[in-house]
Amino acid sequence: MSSAKTLSNSLPADPLMLRAIRNESVERPPVWIMRQAGRYLSEYRELKEKHGFLGLCSSPELAVEVSMQPVRYLDVDAAIIFSDILIPMSCLGIEVAFDPGPKIANPLRSTADINQLRQTAPLSRVSYVFDAIKLLKTELDRYCEEREPKAVIGFAGAPWTLACYILDQGPYKHFQYTQVLAQESRAAVLRLLDTISEIIAEYVLLQVQSGAQIIQLFDTWAGNLNREDFEIFALPYLQKLTRVIQDTHTPCIIYLNSSHHLLESLRQSGANCISIDWKTPLSEARARLGDNIVLQGNLDPTHLFREKHLIEEETSRMLGSTTPFQSYIANLGHGILVNTPRENALAFVNSVKSFGNSKI
Ligand code: CP3
Repeated sequence: MSSAKTLSNSLPADPLMLRAIRNESVERPPVWIMRQAGRYLSEYRELKEKHGFLGLCSSPELAVEVSMQPVRYLDVDAAIIFSDILIPMSCLGIEVAFDPGPKIANPLRSTADINQLRQTAPLSRVSYVFDAIKLLKTELDRYCEEREPKAVIGFAGAPWTLACYILDQGPYKHFQYTQVLAQESRAAVLRLLDTISEIIAEYVLLQVQSGAQIIQLFDTWAGNLNREDFEIFALPYLQKLTRVIQDTHTPCIIYLNSSHHLLESLRQSGANCISIDWKTPLSEARARLGDNIVLQGNLDPTHLFREKHLIEEETSRMLGSTTPFQSYIANLGHGILVNTPRENALAFVNSVKSFGNSKI
């Protein structure tokens, strides 16, 4: 085992995931799971029962405990801070409840609402997020003293996806109100996206200053846009955020659901890594994104409901399509689903690790 201990005479190596995202050569692909902390783990459900979802997010100790649960069970290569993309929206005066999906008490309903939108509180209002990241970094480093180091991932929603939540009233599926407003009141929507991107730029910088080593931007619903609209309403804001993040020498991942028609535009996003959903083969994503962008993904999360040997088979198939392993991070193609059997999530992680061992 090449643990941190055996490296004691040299400088400790950077976490595998950081090395992979910097395009350095790695012994095996790093692996983590989007939404790895959450309801498929009984220890999460117990804590949530007691404290509520927002109670977990707003207590640094509890958020760190929940972030560490999948690290202990799955032994993944990174911990993602436990929070939600909508948390910083409270600094714009937008109040969010979770049931379990987001419910916004006061969605913006007109261009007048948009014009009145202001930052009503400094980001110190959500200082518990930054405190949780500091604590997670300390806790993870302590946990890894006798193990390979692991990375801390911070995250934020991208402006288009956040706009979808604060404009639409739900059910959050097609986001028709946002889509229509973008067509009919473009200037107002662009103003809103500017306001959101300013606060998110500061939010991700504060995460980096608190110890986040990688930032993932979730633009989950930007895949609903056609290419032309994506380049108006999403891409410029992603470019602004990747620049802000990379100015701190921190790598950045962008995730979209249904990005197949947008890969050429995403190539211009400035992200170090693009997280691919399961509908696009990784070999095609590689060809269309080029060799300089790291790929992340992309097992269909429903495969984790199948038998263990089939999970191993699908994982091997996925990994076989991504050689060489350089420039690649193994993950699902979207978040792990609520009722996923936990041992199947473990089977996925272990298949990635053992595939690496047998092939290199
Ligand atoms: O482990 C992790 O990945 C960190 C935690 C995390 C959560 N939300 C916790 C959460 C992350 C990274 C998010 C991001 C997020 N939140 C996204 C982008 C990622 C994606 O899946 O596309 C989006 C669109 C949201 C908005 C949101 N928050 C939704 C759609 C929901 C409902 C989810 C569901 O499965 O029903 C939430 C609530 C939420 N955020 C939960 C968790 C664990 C469930 C709350 C609960 O346990 O009751």
